[in-house]
Amino acid sequence: MSSEQKNLFVSEGHVTTTQRWALAGHQGCVVWFTGLSGSGKSTISREVERELFERGLHAFLLDGDNLRRALNADLGFSPEDRAENIRRTAEVARLLAMSGQVTITAFISPYREDREKARAIAAASGCEFFEVFIDAPLAVCEQRDPKQLYRRARAGEIQQFTGIDAPYEAPETPDVHVRTAEFEVRECVAQIVDFLLPRVQLATAQV
Ligand code: ADX
Repeated sequence: MSSEQKNLFVSEGHVTTTQRWALAGHQGCVVWFTGLSGSGKSTISREVERELFERGLHAFLLDGDNLRRALNADLGFSPEDRAENIRRTAEVARLLAMSGQVTITAFISPYREDREKARAIAAASGCEFFEVFIDAPLAVCEQRDPKQLYRRARAGEIQQFTGIDAPYEAPETPDVHVRTAEFEVRECVAQIVDFLLPRVQLATAQV
């Protein structure tokens, strides 16, 4: 804690997270997608968000490329900047989760330690955190190369590119593991939605 932070006093509101979730009709939570660039995080997360919304749930997507144009516009791709990217995102995600959103995040988030810290941030606010591994082999992602970034990284035009000259630490025990090279988008979406629906239901006593 810095000396300035010692002069801060956390104030509690008069509305509890439990009350907010009761109003939403389901729990808020953090659904943390991780995977290589080109693995399908953005595509699948958009579809999961829509599917949940159409079923009447409050769902909100935080996408790495989008946040890096705004809240995280000052950050690059060094390990330190990626850690800060994930920390800020985890803080926003837990606030949204507390407010009653099924908050989906789509970031490469290549370091296990950063993802564990994101889980701890959610847990400290009483929010569940589900890690979703969007898994496709590097060779497949490189072949898809929707943004032509792998080609540019191989040509030396982009440094510290995940999978090329920066590491990706795959989850060891993800809550959901979807293999996008083997299954259609709609099958991957169904796998995630089927996992989530029973887990965001409120216990009857809370409703
Ligand atoms: S993270 O590693 O910090 O989690 P994040 O998901 O926010 O990354 O951003 C990844 C996106 O930034 C990629 O989808 C790609 O469009 C772009 N990008 C630009 N440079 C890099 C790089 N060096 N490594 C990975 N992604 C990069």
